[in-house]
Amino acid sequence: MKKVVLIGATGTIGKAVNQRLRDKGYDVIATSRKSTPSINIENKESIANFFAGRKDLDAIICAAGDASFGAFSNLTDEQINIGLNSKLMGQVNICRKALDALKPNGAMILTGGIFAHNPWPETTNIAMVNAALEGFVKALALELTEGRRVLVVHPPFVKETAEAMGMDGSNCPPAMAVARAYVRGLEGQETGKAIYVDA
Ligand SMILES: NC(=O)c1ccc[n+]([C@@H]2O[C@H](COP(=O)([O-])OP(=O)(O)OC[C@H]3O[C@@H](n4cnc5c(N)ncnc54)[C@H](OP(=O)(O)O)[C@@H]3O)[C@@H](O)[C@H]2O)c1
Repeated sequence: MKKVVLIGATGTIGKAVNQRLRDKGYDVIATSRKSTPSINIENKESIANFFAGRKDLDAIICAAGDASFGAFSNLTDEQINIGLNSKLMGQVNICRKALDALKPNGAMILTGGIFAHNPWPETTNIAMVNAALEGFVKALALELTEGRRVLVVHPPFVKETAEAMGMDGSNCPPAMAVARAYVRGLEGQETGKAIYVDA
């Protein structure tokens, strides 16, 4: 059975990815800050501790990482740093610490978001980080060995999140459609690419 670490497994997207992976017969190690063992992607030591001694992973999927909404002219240093330290460097540090744990032909799948390419107003912090992640996976793919792969999924705004925010989610895909895209990436052969989900 293929073993997958899923970070952010209790989130809107993570829950759907977890379900899809289990339905397809993967052995999922579902994790987040509140799981046992836990992982906090904003803390390098926590990431290193989580992956220490592991050599047996077929995939690592991250569906966690924060970035800040807000008008550019009002963004504080602290808000800007949330995107940089959590969503961007959190996922970069996962790749740094997880490489030794990833078996040959294994895959790392990160999460960006469609604002990398189709931003809304007040999404500079999110768009910047999502686009950076795309550049990062393109370049990292050139250095991976023995068939290891890295991808970033750019989810659109999903129905569940729109509805939780009191918005009309009828034109948004459900989290399960996004989950299918993660699993397609995992089971395909592509590397260094961004994966989009039809909205
Ligand atoms: N939902 C959308 O419409 C959408 C669209 C595009 C992109 N995205 C991106 O997709 C990712 C997941 O979004 P979501 O809406 O599913 O988020 P969510 O519902 O808020 O869930 C976040 C998940 O990540 C975990 N988590 C949060 N901070 C963490 C940390 N520092 N270290 C480890 N785990 C952490 C949470 O669990 P704990 O609290 O236990 O840690 C939870 O499992 C985010 O990067 C988001 O920007 C989402």
